[in-house]
Amino acid sequence: MANQKHQDNHGGGGHHHILSTPMALKIFGLLLLLTAITVAAAQVDLGVMNFAVAMIIASIKATLVCLFFMGLKYDHKENAVIFSTSLIFMAIFMVLTFGDLLTRGDVYVKNGKILPDVTGQVKSKFTKPWIVTPELLANGKEQFQSQCIACHGPTGHGDGPAAAGLNPKPRNFTSADGWKQGRKPSEIFHTISTGLGGMPSFASAPADDRWSLVHYVRSLGPTDKMPVDSPDDLKKIGIDPNSDGTSGSAEKVIPIDMAIDEMAIDNPANAVAAPVAPAAKAKKK
Ligand code: HEC
Repeated sequence: MANQKHQDNHGGGGHHHILSTPMALKIFGLLLLLTAITVAAAQVDLGVMNFAVAMIIASIKATLVCLFFMGLKYDHKENAVIFSTSLIFMAIFMVLTFGDLLTRGDVYVKNGKILPDVTGQVKSKFTKPWIVTPELLANGKEQFQSQCIACHGPTGHGDGPAAAGLNPKPRNFTSADGWKQGRKPSEIFHTISTGLGGMPSFASAPADDRWSLVHYVRSLGPTDKMPVDSPDDLKKIGIDPNSDGTSGSAEKVIPIDMAIDEMAIDNPANAVAAPVAPAAKAKKK
């Protein structure tokens, strides 16, 4: 090929190239320096960037070795292309794998079972969300405007546009009368989570939002003789009053890798509870 010949004339491709000793020593020194930089960089905490920095330095070192010690710099250019393509693919795989590994969350465990955290029910960004704070109230007001006013009305009087067709009527939050399940935070949380009569369940809303709604609903009503939760009330809805609540109703939080290890031991108690078909359930009895 004419093109090939052209390259040979310039790059000396195909001929065995011997690296001069001073050049080899220079590259060797450079590699040692880069190793020292890697070690030094590891002392500084850059978070995930530590990994990126290490990978960049390692790539530079690998490139030096390939170019000079493997002689790719003096070889046919195609060989360099083929070789670097395989490296690029390896880099893609590593980026994808680590992108996944580093962004995996924790696993929430209750009664030896892993709790699925699809909608953020389990993990909470508020500490002890059953205790009212201005942040929870503000979030509750927002949630209320989007999820509840159709029935309960913008001021919580139970007179939203959808209330007309409902019997019994949506609760009037500004009155202490007529509450069927109680006005304690844990009781309202239970109502929002399970629904009641013509009111749907909001169990798929994150627990944070449900607690926010609890506090907002309570803020609309008369505050004298406002019932409060005892530790036992909280336990009734699966909350450990001594926990900070950020792991929701989970008993322990473990990193995902540990969870995978535990599942690998094939302990059936660690398996995610799979829905059982009604037929299979009936047979078991
Ligand atoms: C589709 C209409 C509808 C929507 C939407 C709705 N509710 Fe209700 N809600 C009702 C009705 C109807 C009742 C009364 C049920 C009964 O008395 O049996 C009720 C009752 C309640 C009660 C009182 C329960 C008790 O102890 O008596 C609470 C608390 C409550 N709703 C909160 C909410 C919150 C918070 C939202 C928004 C996340 C919401 N509701 C959205 C219809 C609705």
